[in-house]
Amino acid sequence: MQALFMKSPIILSIDTSCDETSVAITQGRKVLANTISSQVALHKKYGGVYPSLAKRTHEQKIDLVVEKALTDAKKLKPNLKLNAVAVTQGPGLAIALEVGIKKAKVLSSAYKLPLIAVNHLEGHIYACLAQNSQGQPQREMLFPSLCLVVSGGHTGLYLTATLGQYQLLGETLDDACGEALDKAAKILKLGYPGGPIIERLAEKQELNPKFKLTPPLKAKTNLSFSYSGLKTQFLYLVQSLSDKDFSQNLGSLALAFQTACFEQVIRKTTQAVRTYQPKMLLCGGGVIRNKTLRKNLRQLARDQNLKIFFPLKKNLITDNAAMIGVAASFKFQRNDFVKNLSSLDRLPRFEL
Ligand code: KG4
Ligand code: ZN
Repeated sequence: MQALFMKSPIILSIDTSCDETSVAITQGRKVLANTISSQVALHKKYGGVYPSLAKRTHEQKIDLVVEKALTDAKKLKPNLKLNAVAVTQGPGLAIALEVGIKKAKVLSSAYKLPLIAVNHLEGHIYACLAQNSQGQPQREMLFPSLCLVVSGGHTGLYLTATLGQYQLLGETLDDACGEALDKAAKILKLGYPGGPIIERLAEKQELNPKFKLTPPLKAKTNLSFSYSGLKTQFLYLVQSLSDKDFSQNLGSLALAFQTACFEQVIRKTTQAVRTYQPKMLLCGGGVIRNKTLRKNLRQLARDQNLKIFFPLKKNLITDNAAMIGVAASFKFQRNDFVKNLSSLDRLPRFEL
């Protein structure tokens, strides 16, 4: 591929890593369109993501979502001309990733545009640098940066000393934090996705904690996370309650579980800050939508005299393609393009 130099390339990006079909148009870090077709309502009755249904729905929706993103972007930029296509290569659900990759290849070859493959976790991190269509806010990266990803599929801490290179400091040994919240909501017979439901219930109970879960023993001293023990402990606690106590204490139970989940995030992040002395903290992944977690992270940043960034808008926090476009714009500047379209394959366990 011939070297391309462009400060703010216009990129059409696609993310189909889980249960959102998303297509975005970005110009450098500016988001011109970020279309998300959520499948949550379809998966609700299964209490989680049903892979073959996710694949089929991505296939049904992808063309419409591409069209909608282009139409939205053209409202801001009538003479829109794309410079590249980007797609999430992984991690994620294999058969879901496949749909986005296939579409990206078709668009890339039809319009003779270079293709950029992006790691979904890098997208969640770069979501902190996404700007509105006016180019605001103008956030600059300071190195080294500590990156915290807390989502339904991942929970981990990374150190980045230069754009695009990450050192994994610790990740979950079993369940991700969002996955644990989703499972706790299931134990409470609440619904899917569990994180926001637990948050709403816990909010009402904040001044009245009734139950306390002990922090997991696994991963005690290093920067690894662990959530499966907490889930088992929670299950036993719920099973020990009478039907009446269970139904009268849903809020307190939700609060206890959420508190234990976030205590671990804050403890590990604080430990990483003390050890690696980063200049800033970038936070991403669906669970970052939680107001209590954001409040606790802001407090941590104040205590540690650290700059902290969250993505600007809610739809940049949970899965979306704009974050993939922003990450791709940095790859574009490094001429980091897919060399051979036909050899690009999904990487369900793609590591950063
Ligand atoms: O980043 P994301 O959209 O998908 C993955 O890459 O996994 O994250 C989805 C996760 C789910 O587990 C969901 O329950 C959680 O994010 N989540 C929340 C909130 N909103 C979404 N967890 C806690 N509080 C929230 N408000
Ligand atoms: Zn995600």
